Amino acid sequence: MLDIKKLNAGYGEMPVLRAIDLTIAQGEVVSVVGSNGAGKSTLLKAISGIIKFTGMVTWNNESLSSLKAHTIVQRGIVHVPEGRKIFPEMTVVENLMMGGFLCKKDQQKNLERVFELFPKLAQRRTQLGGTMSGGEQQMLAIGRGIMGNPKLLLLDEPSLGLSPLFTEVVFGAIRTINTSGVTVLLVEQNVYQSLNISHRGYVIETGRIVLTGTGEELLNNQDVKKAFLGM
Ligand SMILES: Nc1ncnc2c1ncn2[C@@H]1O[C@H](COP(=O)(O)OP(=O)(O)OP(=O)(O)O)[C@@H](O)[C@H]1O
Ligand SMILES: [Mg+2]
Repeated sequence: MLDIKKLNAGYGEMPVLRAIDLTIAQGEVVSVVGSNGAGKSTLLKAISGIIKFTGMVTWNNESLSSLKAHTIVQRGIVHVPEGRKIFPEMTVVENLMMGGFLCKKDQQKNLERVFELFPKLAQRRTQLGGTMSGGEQQMLAIGRGIMGNPKLLLLDEPSLGLSPLFTEVVFGAIRTINTSGVTVLLVEQNVYQSLNISHRGYVIETGRIVLTGTGEELLNNQDVKKAFLGM
């Protein structure tokens, strides 16, 4: 479905990602884990067309290299960025509609889908985004992503800064989203939880993939245990 070969990307003259090979099949949850600054967010930005790259990224056999970010969204790849980036002066519903503006025909259906996934957003539909708690803002950011009718959802650190309870809610929602047929590429600091819900994962270290395997294989890997799980 998504096929990445020898991808290089960076900022200006500074290279960040080097020769990344990564594939995602339809229906999978795939995690990318790695320490701060390893290049995880950069990878998502390259896939969603926010930054340029060299190498090959194809999506259902179509190259993404020359497509603009909004066209990539229309192809079904939706990026929920790190730090949520919701619109603080807009209400919950207005924020959600911003995610749905490229996909007007399914807006009502997708709104119902979001409210079913996060009933709290339905209760707070007229509250300003900026006055929501951190966890609620994360639900809103994921909900806004769903409004774009994703086939592939790119999630950048959805559990960052959340309490254990909200973390559970967010990981539960990711499972539900995946079960409903959406493929997920998940970038997380919460290595245990994220590998636990993933079919496969990749470990990235200073811009290179150093390890890949099923979620279970990576959870049982000695290097992963030592580096990320404090064991
Ligand atoms: N807009 C930018 N301009 C210049 N350098 C950047 C920019 N964004 C990120 N970088 C650099 O690229 C490298 C990779 O950053 P990236 O955000 O992809 O890491 P990350 O793995 O997502 O880290 P974290 O876990 O802290 O979110 C870092 O060295 C970072 O300083
Ligand atoms: Mg990041």
